[in-house]
Amino acid sequence: MQICTMTDSDISAVSQLEAASFSTPWSENSIRSELDNPWAIWLVARDEPGLAGYIGVQYGPDGGDILTVATDPAFRGRGIAKALIRRMVQLLQEKNLSWLTLEVRPSNCAAISLYESMGFRQVGRRKNYYRCPTEDALLLTLYFKEDRSC
Ligand SMILES: CC(C)(COP(=O)(O)OP(=O)(O)OC[C@H]1O[C@@H](n2cnc3c(N)ncnc32)[C@H](O)[C@@H]1OP(=O)(O)O)[C@@H](O)C(=O)NCCC(=O)NCCS
Repeated sequence: MQICTMTDSDISAVSQLEAASFSTPWSENSIRSELDNPWAIWLVARDEPGLAGYIGVQYGPDGGDILTVATDPAFRGRGIAKALIRRMVQLLQEKNLSWLTLEVRPSNCAAISLYESMGFRQVGRRKNYYRCPTEDALLLTLYFKEDRSC
């Protein structure tokens, strides 16, 4: 399994896994446009010849925001999402950024467990943030300087 920067040839597989993973997925065109976004980093975990997982982040001068992250069901529970986030944190730290944040459904126990195991902590809650179905979002943030676990 290799973690690489997403390229044009990954778009189709990423958008298929995105559509299979979320009720309001990023469209193929939106994902493609991220390749030209200078404030975005998208990584893929490749299990040749296929895709095992991916993560997309947009960042600003201080920190980054996880837009989406998913692992193919056939590859879950093997540390792939953790490896993708860990690599993303390294890349953001190399840019001297200080934090990584994300929104997650309170019902998404697997994702919350993943983030907490990496040192993310809840910093807020957004009422009715999600649709299909409507649900609050928990706002979790990892502050790199305090991080000891990833
Ligand atoms: C959440 C998701 C990305 C996890 O991917 P993954 O590659 O299976 O996760 P990892 O194998 O890296 O798991 C790392 C840690 O996360 C936690 N975790 C992952 N899946 C879990 C589950 N089903 N139940 C409980 N904890 C879980 C565990 O702490 C695990 O560490 P451990 O294996 O040492 O116990 C995956 O389930 C997924 O793609 N879900 C659908 C998309 C999604 O919900 N994305 C997140 C949006 S906020």
